Amino acid sequence: MSAILHVGPSERASAWQAEFRHALPEVEFRCWPEIGDARDIRYLVAWTLSPQLIAALPRLEVLFSIGAGIDQLDLSLVPEHVRIVRMIEPGITTTMAQYVAASVLALHRDLPFYIEAQRRGGWTQLPTLLCEERSVGVMGLGELGRAALTMLAPLGFRLRGWNRSPRRIEGAECFSGAGELDAFLGGTDILVCLLPLTDETRGILSRDLFDRLPHGARLVNAARGGHLVEDDLLAALDEGRIASAMLDVSQVEPLPQDHPFRTDPRILVTPHVAGVTRIETAVHALIDNLRRDLAGQALPGEVDRTRGY
Ligand code: NAP
Ligand code: GLV
Repeated sequence: MSAILHVGPSERASAWQAEFRHALPEVEFRCWPEIGDARDIRYLVAWTLSPQLIAALPRLEVLFSIGAGIDQLDLSLVPEHVRIVRMIEPGITTTMAQYVAASVLALHRDLPFYIEAQRRGGWTQLPTLLCEERSVGVMGLGELGRAALTMLAPLGFRLRGWNRSPRRIEGAECFSGAGELDAFLGGTDILVCLLPLTDETRGILSRDLFDRLPHGARLVNAARGGHLVEDDLLAALDEGRIASAMLDVSQVEPLPQDHPFRTDPRILVTPHVAGVTRIETAVHALIDNLRRDLAGQALPGEVDRTRGY
């Protein structure tokens, strides 16, 4: 007997349990905390971990993240032999690409300024630029970065991307590595962060990086709050080096009530909803990966624990 343990909301648990019974009856779907005989549990699917959870699973082989990111999982709790797999599924990819397109257009068309003007009763018209007159640069050309570029392409922006390893993407000028970061940033009017959060990328959206963007650049952070040095953004906004920002994530979530981002008219905030794991589609990605594991095949989305993503 093989079993997978799900940790998370009951709505998702019951939908996935029904799908497993139908599509993969050889793997029993169990729901935390009703784990049954722990010796059966080879697989775990969760968003976060606790010491009690990991201690209860002595035969764990593969840990599946509910999300595309894995930094929210405390991997210090997880034995080295356990494989970690991030979620790659069309629901996250589509919603993220839509979020990035919406954010880029919102900043391009000065929505933070006009929302504030509406609140204050103003009626000032800013000069309007065409999409072709601005460039959008995406940091991180993985599943989500590439999907965002594809969604942006028909709008006409000049597209660029920056990645750890070199990539070729039709319609986008691609840069790679620390050596090409300056060139990438220097020509980027709207910067989009879609990097994983690792030791190398933590705090990358900092004063030093903002200084290398064109004056008045705009920022979208749809990755993780840990990428952004929040005080550096506030300083860059005050100095006009950054004109506006759209932030889906923050260092502390939920964003504290008294956090300056909540009331800053140059910032639009959303509550970590950019890329959403869809119950209906993610279950198929999970079942597909379990079938592959049972067949001894490689698992799409398997994480390199030393690299951190
Ligand atoms: P992915 O497929 O693993 O792609 C990550 C990309 O980042 C890869 O292309 C990788 O380069 C690049 N990269 C990694 N470290 C780098 C570095 N130090 N410098 C430059 N590039 C680097 O991940 P994904 O599925 O696109 O997801 C990206 C992130 O989005 C997730 O980790 C998560 O934090 C975030 N996310 C946020 C939300 C939300 O709702 N806010 C939703 C989903 C995901 P290589 O090609 O060389 O490996
Ligand atoms: C959401 O933040 C995810 O990582 O999928």
